[in-house]
Amino acid sequence: MMNAAVILLLTSGCFTWSSALYTPNRAASNKLKYLLEPPVYAEVIGRRGENVTLPCILRTKPSHYKVKWTKLQTEHVGKENIIMISNSHAFKRYGRLGPRATLRNAHSMDASLQLSHLELEDGGSYRCELINGIEDESVVVSLRIEGVVFPYQSQNGRYRLTYQGAQEACAEQDGILASFSQLYRAWTEGLDWCNAGWLDDGTVHYPIIEPRPACGGQTLPGIRSYGPKDKKLDQFDAFCFTSQTSGSVSYISGSFSFQQAEDACNRQGSELALVGQLYSAWRFQNYDQCDGGWLKDGSVRFPISNPRERCGGIPEAGVRSFGFPNKMKDLYGAYCYR
Ligand SMILES: *[C@@H]1O[C@H](CO)[C@@H](O)[C@H](O)[C@H]1NC(C)=O
Repeated sequence: MMNAAVILLLTSGCFTWSSALYTPNRAASNKLKYLLEPPVYAEVIGRRGENVTLPCILRTKPSHYKVKWTKLQTEHVGKENIIMISNSHAFKRYGRLGPRATLRNAHSMDASLQLSHLELEDGGSYRCELINGIEDESVVVSLRIEGVVFPYQSQNGRYRLTYQGAQEACAEQDGILASFSQLYRAWTEGLDWCNAGWLDDGTVHYPIIEPRPACGGQTLPGIRSYGPKDKKLDQFDAFCFTSQTSGSVSYISGSFSFQQAEDACNRQGSELALVGQLYSAWRFQNYDQCDGGWLKDGSVRFPISNPRERCGGIPEAGVRSFGFPNKMKDLYGAYCYR
């Protein structure tokens, strides 16, 4: 497994921030007395399943203090998600993240938080707060889960998912609804998709690299926005996010109906792969297979890492879809996951 990487973007030799690189939160923009500004660019990156360390180092130690780690929630401003509170001799864990959190304690000034077995939902901003009852201070570190965004359409057709339906559809494909920043990153990496989909904040967007009349017109590439939509009434597709998986995907060639494909996977002790698992294999293992195969949701797809004329003819790498063919009459290979 790869080690989580920390992006090092030191500015001009000393530990000051260039405002172009880093917008300090209000707490951190005040002059810090006790805590050190994170000595690296304040973003830590890890994949699902990996362990990461969120740095927080004391500059000076007050005589009595506690350190409180929380995850900040953009959707619920003001809501605190406490992960851990510690003093010099004990610590207590809280909430969903608590059981996977420990303090690194590499030395007496180290208050860095270690998170193990990263999950898709762990991405976001984390606050390390020093509380001494007089002048509390905090720094914010962001954690980015490295992964892949994939559009998902219901087998009933285009724009058939409510917000909750989209959440469930992503979960069924081993993903979660993507955030705007995940979609934005996917767009910078080449995602062009002409169907609007839900994001985790209840907004609806679609990413366009090649502007065209049928996809919102406009002359510039960009993320087209429908803004926030009615979560109960409005229906769209979904943008799902997934990351590395612990298993692997393999292809069985053959002319199978859906049921025969499922049986073929079962015979070798695996199951038909989920859409997220196929995207993960494509993204993290450069999986390339120029044959349509059944997936568990009844769709037929194939992953292309090295685009070539005979494999769909599209110049970009990607996972291609044949939609949801007839499960009995149409015959394809099988993508299995184990
Ligand atoms: C991650 O941390 C857990 C618990 O702290 C440990 O058991 C596991 O070996 C670590 N995994 C890696 C890949 O370092």
